[in-house]
Amino acid sequence: KTSVDEVDQDQTKSSIAKLPKEKWWADTHLLQFKGFWLMPELVKAVEAIKTQFNPLPTDIILASFPKSGTTWLKALTFSILNLSNSSNQLVLTQKNPHEIIPFLEMETFGENPSRKVDDLNSPRIFNTHLPYPILSDKIKTSGCRIIYIRRNPADTFVSLWHFYNKILGTQVSLEQAFDEFCRGCVPGGPFFEHVLGYWQEREKKNIFLLKYEELKKDPTELVGKLADFLGCSLNFEEIQEVVSKCSFDKLRMSNGNRDEADDNIHWTGASFDSFFRQGVVGDSKNYLTTEMVQKLDLITNQMWDLEGLI
Ligand code: A3P
Repeated sequence: KTSVDEVDQDQTKSSIAKLPKEKWWADTHLLQFKGFWLMPELVKAVEAIKTQFNPLPTDIILASFPKSGTTWLKALTFSILNLSNSSNQLVLTQKNPHEIIPFLEMETFGENPSRKVDDLNSPRIFNTHLPYPILSDKIKTSGCRIIYIRRNPADTFVSLWHFYNKILGTQVSLEQAFDEFCRGCVPGGPFFEHVLGYWQEREKKNIFLLKYEELKKDPTELVGKLADFLGCSLNFEEIQEVVSKCSFDKLRMSNGNRDEADDNIHWTGASFDSFFRQGVVGDSKNYLTTEMVQKLDLITNQMWDLEGLI
C-alpha cells in the first residue's frame, strides 16, 4: 500500500461489508451502524466527519430526524443570524434553505462533496440527520451549538412516506412504510431512539431542543428563544419579521415560483418545492388507521414515557 489513506479506505470498506444489512423501501438497503440504520454512503461519511471535520465553537449544527422540520429550522436560523444583512435576507426569497445551509454528511463530507467547509462564512451552519450517539466526539466536545428539532411520530411518518415515494419515484404502500418505521428500519432510524439521543443531552448549555408542534403553536415565543440561544437578542418586531419571512407560505411560494431550471433540484433528486407539502400538525389523521395510531402510541409510551419525553 502506498498511503495510509488507502489502508484506511480498505479497512473502512471491509468493516462496512460486515455491518448488518436490511432491505428498505423499494430496492434500497440500509446498514445498521452503532444501533442505527443508515444509507451505506452515510456510514462512510460518518468516518470522514470523524477524521476530517474540525468543528469550531462558533459552528451551528441543525440536527433532526428527516421530515421533522429541518427546512423550516434552516430558514429560521439563517434569517435570525442575518436579520441586519438585507442582501442575505433576500437570499431566502431566492433560494431554498437547503441550498443555503449544507448537509454535513452529504454535501460537505459525502462521497462527492459539493461544498467546501473552508468556503463557508462564519458562523458556519450545517445540518445533520445523524443520531447523537453517532456524532463525532470532536463535534460533541467542540462546544459548537446544536439545535435539534423533533416532531410527533405520526406526522413525521406520514411526511416521510410522501417524501420518499416522491423523490424515489416509488409507490411503497403506507402499510409497508409503517411497518419499517415501527421496526426502526428507516434512514436515521429507529426514529424513537434518534429523538431520545438528543433529548438525553438537553441539559447541556450548547444544546437547544425545539418541537415542531410548539413552533407552529407559538412561533414568536419559540423564535425568540432560538434567537437568544444563537446569541442574537431580537425585539418583538424583529421576531415577527423572522417568523413571517420563514412562514410555510412564503418559503413555498418562493420555491414554487422558481423556474424549472436544471439546477433547481436538491441533491436527493427532489425538486426544491418537495420540502413544502402541508406544513400542518395532525395531517397524519387523514392517513393512519386507529390500529396504526394505537401502535405508535404504544411504542411512544414504551420508549419515551420513562424518559419524561412527550
Ligand atoms: P409535511 O410533509 O407534513 O407537510 P424536513 O424539512 O425536515 O424535510 O420536513 C418537511 C416537513 O416540514 C414537511 O411536512 C413540510 O411541509 C414542513 N415544512 C417545511 N417548511 C415549513 C414551514 N416553514 N413551516 C411549517 N412546516 C414546514
